[in-house]
Amino acid sequence: MKKRIAIFISGRGSNMEAIAGQARDGILRDVCEIVLVFSNRPDAAGLKIAENMGISTACIPSAGKKRGEFDRDVLQLLQPLNIDLIVLAGYMRLLSPVLIRAYPDRIVNIHPADTRAYQGIDAYAWAFDNKLPKTYITVHFVDEGMDTGEIIAQRELNIKGLKTLEQIEEKGLALEHEMYSEVLRDLCKNT
Ligand code: GRF
Repeated sequence: MKKRIAIFISGRGSNMEAIAGQARDGILRDVCEIVLVFSNRPDAAGLKIAENMGISTACIPSAGKKRGEFDRDVLQLLQPLNIDLIVLAGYMRLLSPVLIRAYPDRIVNIHPADTRAYQGIDAYAWAFDNKLPKTYITVHFVDEGMDTGEIIAQRELNIKGLKTLEQIEEKGLALEHEMYSEVLRDLCKNT
């Protein structure tokens, strides 16, 4: 049985696009289907991309809402869809216990650093500012903390000699796009 996936985004949606492409005709084709792309921001560019790919989208604006309240609304939206796995891809909101408990070990995130070394936004800028020769991309289970859940997989990103933050981001995103689908394929097969 193919796993039913909801992808959560807040912005650009390039990871979502890569995963949806692999689910359509690549390495995820036989293991999952993207049932929904959800955003907490109506202006997320990724929503349009998903629509153009023929994927169902939904948005519940989170601005001004309490975390628990908002997540209860999200849960109501998800429940009839029988979602097996929630994939966070640039989703800029901490999840409350309402969602974490409803999907135990079934929510994953990608973070462009070693989550043991750096959590939160601007992780490529952190690597750049600290002149690191290498950094990591991490896929991890999501708990209530910011980038604190159990690590599922990590890939090394060599950034030695790269001169600008843009170069680091470009190389890092390419690795994110490749890695996330590979990790999801294994998760879908083994759970
Ligand atoms: C990615 O760098 C991801 O690792 C981080 O947020 C960024 C989202 O980019 N969590 P996109 O929306 O997938 O293009």
